[in-house]
Amino acid sequence: MQSTARVLVTGGAGYIGTHTCIQLLSAGYQLLVLDNFSNSSPEALHRVQAITGIEVPGIEGDINDAALLDRLFEQHAIDAVIHFAGLKAVGESVAQPLRYYHNNVSGTVTLCQAMQRAGVFNLVFSSSATVYGDPATLPIREDFPTSATNPYGRSKLIIEEILGDLYTSDPRWNVALLRYFNPVGAHPSGLIGEDPSDIPNNLMPYIAQVAVGRRERLSVFGSDYPTVDGTGVRDYIHVMDLADGHVRALAWLQQGLGIKAFNLGTGRGYSVLEMLKAFEQACGKTLAYELVARRPGDVASCYADPTLAEQELGWKATLGIEAMCADGWRWQSQNPEGYRS
Ligand code: NAD
Ligand code: UD1
Repeated sequence: MQSTARVLVTGGAGYIGTHTCIQLLSAGYQLLVLDNFSNSSPEALHRVQAITGIEVPGIEGDINDAALLDRLFEQHAIDAVIHFAGLKAVGESVAQPLRYYHNNVSGTVTLCQAMQRAGVFNLVFSSSATVYGDPATLPIREDFPTSATNPYGRSKLIIEEILGDLYTSDPRWNVALLRYFNPVGAHPSGLIGEDPSDIPNNLMPYIAQVAVGRRERLSVFGSDYPTVDGTGVRDYIHVMDLADGHVRALAWLQQGLGIKAFNLGTGRGYSVLEMLKAFEQACGKTLAYELVARRPGDVASCYADPTLAEQELGWKATLGIEAMCADGWRWQSQNPEGYRS
C-alpha cells in the first residue's frame, strides 16, 4: 500500500479506530471514516483533527447499508479497508445474539460484497484473542486451536472463516486478521481514549473510573487462579502500539500474500492486582478493591507469542504498563465523563 493511498476506516470513531486514524494520518494515508456512532461520538473525530491538524472526513452510516457503501466506493478512490466496526460487549452478546450476528457478521458480509463490487480486495480485520478460547498452553501462537464461548467471540471466529472462504474463492483478496490481546491506555495528549457508555466491562476503564471517583471500588473477579497472585493474567497492550500494528498491516497487504492471522500483544502477562498497583502509581492514589467470585467464562491466563507479527509485519510493541497507565489516567482525569465532559 502506498502511504498516499485512501483507506476506508469502518468504526473509525471508536476507541481503537481513533488512535489508528492518528497513526495512519501521520504515515501520510488519506482517510474516510464510516461510523454509525452506536458506541462513539462525532466529538472523537473532532479530537483526532485537533491532534493531527488534518480534517478527517466522517460519514455517519451503517456497514449494513449496501447502497451507502456502493456510493462511498464510487465517490472515493478507496484502496483498502480497515474494519473496526462491530459490537464488543460479551455479556450483551449472550443476551442479544441476533443483534451481534446481524451487526458483526452480516455487516462484514455486506461490506465485503461492496468491496467486491468495487474491486477493492485489501482488508484489515479487527479480530480478538478471544478466538483462542481457553488455551492449553502459553504463550499463544496463531496456529493454536480456536473456539468460542459466547456470541461475540463466535462472531469473530465466523468472520475469520468467512474471510478465509472468500480468499479461497478469489486469490485477489489480501486480508490481515489482527487478533488483539487487551488494548489499554490512550493517546499521550489526553484528548482521546476509551469512553464506555455504560458501566465498564473491562478492567482498565473500570480502574480509571474508580480513580476519578465515578465508581467506589474495583471488584477483582477471582483470587484463586493458578497465577502469580491468584488473579487473572492478561497481555495488556498500549493502544498506540496497537494502532501502529494497523499501519504495518496495510504495508503487509501490498505484498499480496493472501490471508493471515497475527497476534498483536506484548508477549507478557500482568495480573489484575499488578495492573491496579501500576495504575495507583500513575494516579498517585490508593484505589479501593474487593476480591469477589470468578467471572463466568474467564480464563486464568492469556498472553501472546507476538513473534509472527515481528517477523512478517516488522511490528513489535514498545510501550510498557507505566505508559499504559499514565496515558490512560491522563485521558480519564482530563475527561472524567469521557467525551461528554
Ligand atoms: P468501539 O466500540 O470503541 O469501536 C467500534 C466502533 O464501531 C464504534 O465507533 C461504533 O459506533 C462503530 N460501529 C459499530 N457497529 C457499527 C455499524 N454497524 N456500522 C458502523 N459503525 C459501527 O470498540 P473498539 O474497542 O475500538 O474495538 C474496535 C474493534 O476491535 C471491534 O471490532 C472489536 O470487536 C475489536 N476488538 C476490540 C478489543 C478491545 O478490547 N477494545 C479487543 C479485541 C477486538
Ligand atoms: C474481555 C472479553 C473478551 C474481549 C476482551 C476485550 C470476557 C469474558 N472476555 O476479555 O471477549 O475480547 O474483554 O474487549 O468478557 N477484571 C476484574 N474486574 C473487573 C473487570 C475485569 O477483576 O471489573 C479481570 C478479569 O477477570 C480478567 C482481567 O481483569 O482477569 C481482564 O478483564 P477484561 O478487561 O474484561 O478483559 P478479558 O477478560 O481479557
